Amino acid sequence: MSEELKEAVVKTYEPSEEVKKNANVQEYDETYKRSITDPVAYWGELANNLNWYQKWDKVLDDSNPPFFKWFTGGKINIVHNAIDRHMGTPIEKKFAFLWEGEPGDRRTLTYGQLNTEVSKMANLIKSMGIVKGDIVTIYMPQIPELVFAMLACAKIGAAHSVVYAGFSSTALRNRIDDAKSKLLITADGGWRRGNIIDLKKIVNVTLDQTPTIENCITVKRTKHGTEMKKGRDHWYHEAIANISDECPTEVTDAEDMLFILYTSGTTGKPKGVKHTHGGYALYTSTVQKMVFDIKDDDIWWCLADPGWITGHSFIVYAPLINGTTTILYEGAPVYPDPDRIWEMVSRYKVTVFYTSPTAVRGFMRFGDDWVNKHDLGSLRLLGSVGEPINPSAWEWYYKVVGKEKSPIMDTWWQTETGGFMISPYPITTLKPGSATRPLFGIDADVVNDNGESTKVGEEGLLVIKQPWPGMARTILGDDERYKSVYWSRFEPQGWYLAGDSARKDKDGYIWIIARIDDVIKVSGYRLGTAEIESALVSHASVVESAVVALPHELKGHAIHSYVILSEEVEKSDELASEIKTHVRTEMGPIAMPETVTFVDSLPKTRSGKIMRRVLKAQAMGEDPGDLSTIED
Ligand code: PRX
Repeated sequence: MSEELKEAVVKTYEPSEEVKKNANVQEYDETYKRSITDPVAYWGELANNLNWYQKWDKVLDDSNPPFFKWFTGGKINIVHNAIDRHMGTPIEKKFAFLWEGEPGDRRTLTYGQLNTEVSKMANLIKSMGIVKGDIVTIYMPQIPELVFAMLACAKIGAAHSVVYAGFSSTALRNRIDDAKSKLLITADGGWRRGNIIDLKKIVNVTLDQTPTIENCITVKRTKHGTEMKKGRDHWYHEAIANISDECPTEVTDAEDMLFILYTSGTTGKPKGVKHTHGGYALYTSTVQKMVFDIKDDDIWWCLADPGWITGHSFIVYAPLINGTTTILYEGAPVYPDPDRIWEMVSRYKVTVFYTSPTAVRGFMRFGDDWVNKHDLGSLRLLGSVGEPINPSAWEWYYKVVGKEKSPIMDTWWQTETGGFMISPYPITTLKPGSATRPLFGIDADVVNDNGESTKVGEEGLLVIKQPWPGMARTILGDDERYKSVYWSRFEPQGWYLAGDSARKDKDGYIWIIARIDDVIKVSGYRLGTAEIESALVSHASVVESAVVALPHELKGHAIHSYVILSEEVEKSDELASEIKTHVRTEMGPIAMPETVTFVDSLPKTRSGKIMRRVLKAQAMGEDPGDLSTIED
């Protein structure tokens, strides 16, 4: 299809005059140009919106690329901005969080109460010998104490590493070992679809195998009874009973480590992506305020798990820095009924709602009536993140949830970018399926292998041509990997390689196509083929494996696996389901393959690399393309 024809079928949507009139961002072209031509001036000016203990000497230190530093010489703490600076202002009495557990229990926290709770937790972890520079691992359900734990670490200058509570013991252990954590903060369990997820049981298995953990703080959430090891395990409620609720916030350098967050890449070893206090605080709070048009009276709901970057940036840090009221919900979105979320939107009068395409498709499946039962008149903006949103899900979200009055901010970004990078502002003309244009200060482009900007409609590699304050600083303990994964492809130019393919249309709108590496997105979760394959071969009967992602109506993509069994093993359906369960136990439910296919050989290059694209083409009945490098 020619580009013109493609363009002709793309429907555009204009935000209403009302939305545009009130938007925090009123103009795009000129500001964008200015922000790219002089990023130092652009970010330097915005940084004045934060509270600094000491002003920076330099906005951007680019003397040692790709290890860029922002606001060097500046003294700040993100918690000073997220909490301390609100004390004594009207925000102190405002709700920071409106929390709801899956069983329906509720808890509210004002900024003042949050300050108290975070200070107590901070004093507790300090009393356990945690100091600046330590990395505390957090493995918790979506309860307020998860947020307290993150903020408490940051407050005392320690870093946190939150491990998503859907991960298994092996994944947790690898991450604890990599971070060399001395302290783990967890809970006895959490609620999901009416069941208790027994987190402490997983933790107990893990801690028997990790050499570094000295203490484990456990929040009592599900009260279902758990084994506590004397000397190592401490109930949170007992430990804080007599602890002071005053704790000074540590003065940190702008470039001090705030957290690491593990994410999947091309090899099996997860990458601990490092973010810092200063640049991250500025970047996340700025993009939230501009893209989601944050106002004082907003009720913001980012339906993500704080265990992922979306939750770090847009449940915890950005909303608190902006003084926003945030909804935090523990459980499954369609439990006990498919309208759980809509009932809550209506009851809490949510104004801005941000979720993933997978969740939207999940809601869509249950039909419009579940949505229409509730008054969603409070909504004024919607958001999407995690994977490309297919136009039919976009239209449904826009029409049925947004009643054609709330524009959808389709935000493209990554764990490594800290915050939104390509996204509409509320004044942008929307095209369903496109994240539209780069945000201010983000020099994004689509280029071919030679680094030339692609022509309109031509597929290429998504790159970012200039550093930005929210960027990851490195991979924990592996500067070389950071350099080679993100910066070696276009080293002479000094560009960041995002790992996605994309195309640009005649209006400069960017359309994300797919990952170019061995990363699979399942329900918006990021998994590496190598990690899943290594879980597969850890089953006693499996000698070799390959996984591919195939389109799935609900999940976007689903995992399909091909395995070679040991010679003496019989193929059977029972074995196939046993292998599936094995991956689930090793990695967690999100990584469980849809199918296990037994094969006698796998397509490989002469150098022994599995050609996953051949498997994928075969599964989809497509032409596998160039086979000249295939071994057999
Ligand atoms: O492939 C892109 C996809 O998610 C990847 C980043 O995954 P992760 O680090 O887990 O972060 C997800 C939450 C920020 C990207 O490389 N992706 C994310 N948002 C979008 C997207 N693809 C298309 N459109 C989006 N809005």
